[in-house]
Amino acid sequence: LRVIGLSSGTSVDGIDAALTDITGHGPRVRLRLLAYHTFPYPRGLRPRLLALQSGGRTEDVCHLNAYLGELFADAAKRLAESAGIPLRRIALIGSHGQTVAHRPDPVREGRYRVRSTLQIGEPSVIAERTGVLTVADFRPRDLAAGGQGAPLTPLIHHRCFSHPRRNRLVVNLGGITNVTWLPAGGSLDRLVAFDTGPGNMVIDGLMERMTGGRRTMDRHGRTASAGTVRLELLRSLLRHPYLRLPPPKTTGRELFGRPMIDRLWRRVSTSVPPRDLIATVTAFTASSIVDAYDRFLRPRGVVHDVIVGGGGVYNKVLMKQLADGFEPVPVHSMAVHGIDPKAIEAMAFALLAYTTMQGEPNNVPQVTGASHTVMLGKIIPVID
Ligand SMILES: Nc1ncnc2c1ncn2[C@@H]1O[C@H](COP(=O)(O)OP(=O)(O)O)[C@@H](O)[C@H]1O
Ligand SMILES: [Mg+2]
Repeated sequence: LRVIGLSSGTSVDGIDAALTDITGHGPRVRLRLLAYHTFPYPRGLRPRLLALQSGGRTEDVCHLNAYLGELFADAAKRLAESAGIPLRRIALIGSHGQTVAHRPDPVREGRYRVRSTLQIGEPSVIAERTGVLTVADFRPRDLAAGGQGAPLTPLIHHRCFSHPRRNRLVVNLGGITNVTWLPAGGSLDRLVAFDTGPGNMVIDGLMERMTGGRRTMDRHGRTASAGTVRLELLRSLLRHPYLRLPPPKTTGRELFGRPMIDRLWRRVSTSVPPRDLIATVTAFTASSIVDAYDRFLRPRGVVHDVIVGGGGVYNKVLMKQLADGFEPVPVHSMAVHGIDPKAIEAMAFALLAYTTMQGEPNNVPQVTGASHTVMLGKIIPVID
């Protein structure tokens, strides 16, 4: 089947769209990427979406949900068009939407323990504009089953990278970093996956702070490469309590977004030059990943390959620090393994839509903490 996957992550940088060709079932499923593109959000939208995450108005949530539905639909249409494949030849769209709130820890309401998550980008709009059956909102079902609703990418990591004789670690450098441990020859129920902590989020946040919003990333790691890592600051950052928390665990902007950036900026902006600060938080990001491996995964076995995806693969300093940290284990971009490192998230949602429509359970309970397997997503049907 031809399936389009759509997603936007915690970086809130735009819509990743992947057109895939998927065949087979279960462990023998095969994915091929036919086309991929990132559609950046229109100017000014990112701050409005970020504002939602820190207490926006209900009307804004309502409006932006429908507006993002239009943008996600356009992304699917434009991707199919660029690939020269008419929409009627697309079997499914799997859309993650944009997370605006994620509260997996239970809040008491009388006799209920309420756990919630909210992704916007109305799938009814996507189905209506494209005429393609759309599966969306993958996280709530896992939460309903007692899980954290995240991470959801381990399934595709397993299907694309599991190796019969090599222990592999997949590292996704999004806004937050999540890792998937794939023991050699292991089935889905033997993988381990969790968020290690920051990905690009702290780097991005400080770049934005330092440049008054002119730059939102350290492109190719240029700023970090001109700076020096301040070891004392690095050591204090590495004392962050999240890093010590045993998996399963997930995190987001609450811990490594604005509040952390503001605190850090107040503490060091007068004493540490900007490029040293970026070099140091880049090292913090890399070290927190190596640290997670040392603490929680190395006891399970020695890793043979580290496979890296997400926008962070383009940060040369971050990649170099990761390579140094895992030395002598090879650290490579997913590209070396034949998968576009920016496309993998969007491909993950194509696979989730596909498996749900095949009637295959597709959450990974030991990873999310759900009490059982479920089929994720809500289905918006269309008339043929
Ligand atoms: N050329 C680049 N150089 C350095 N960092 C980059 C580059 N391209 C993307 N990134 C980083 O990757 C982030 C986006 O990665 P992505 O995988 O889309 O994350 P998310 O899933 O959180 O949206 C950007 O915010 C930026 O920090
Ligand atoms: Mg992104």
